[in-house]
Amino acid sequence: MRPNGCAVPDRALACGGTGMRRSPGEGWDVSAYERKDAAYRRAKREGFRSRAAYKLVELDRRLQLFRKGQRIIDLGCWPGAWLQCASGKVGQSGRVVGVDLVAAEPMAEKNVQILVGDVADDAVAAQILAALGGPADVVLSDLAPKLTGVKPADAVRHADLARIAMARAQQWLQPEGALVVKLFMDAEYQGLISDLRRLFRSVRSIKPESTRQGSSELYTCARGLRDGQDSPAFPET
Ligand SMILES: C[S@@+](CC[C@H](N)C(=O)[O-])C[C@H]1O[C@@H](n2cnc3c(N)ncnc32)[C@H](O)[C@@H]1O
Repeated sequence: MRPNGCAVPDRALACGGTGMRRSPGEGWDVSAYERKDAAYRRAKREGFRSRAAYKLVELDRRLQLFRKGQRIIDLGCWPGAWLQCASGKVGQSGRVVGVDLVAAEPMAEKNVQILVGDVADDAVAAQILAALGGPADVVLSDLAPKLTGVKPADAVRHADLARIAMARAQQWLQPEGALVVKLFMDAEYQGLISDLRRLFRSVRSIKPESTRQGSSELYTCARGLRDGQDSPAFPET
């Protein structure tokens, strides 16, 4: 267990935050600058699967997300740094279920279950809920699409994933639960924030210090589901 309460160690250290790219086949490339990155080296030293762990540690510190015994869903969990972190935070009385298109290395922690699949797939969504065993206290979404390099198209693809996370969170969260979703300060941002404000009573965006300089990435925490709101339009996939 690390001082910050996250469960480690683990063998693989593979992806970080906004600097990741996925190859045409499977998996994310670890770019040359990722290798040189101080946070990458620190994560490797401390046994985290990626530098993304430090973002979640900071989000938890600033938002008080986690408590022992909670049920957590991690959307876009590969390679599993957030799983490591959440597992330690909720302890053995809690449960963490992660899902990704890419199969993450199994984890030794008994409170973690890793599924492979598309978050847009209803059958996968049903598996997640069954694995969780009850309503979620926190839904995490670090979902990121395979980038094409065409900024407006990538922004729309990411916004689609964020809206899927919102719609799923609405189905899965207990009424006072929290959704933490990765967003970007791009043309889609204000529309996504409006959707979140329509669904949740409290919405707060945070840019973690561990986010790369120059990145427009931030994380928005939405808490307290409003009653009787329709889900955001579920994007066609
Ligand atoms: C930034 S990485 C997640 C890093 C992770 N939070 C960690 O701590 O290791 C984003 C992930 O989103 C996944 N992803 C993108 N679209 C997805 C989808 N439709 N369903 C499931 N996972 C998806 C990618 O495969 C990728 O592994």
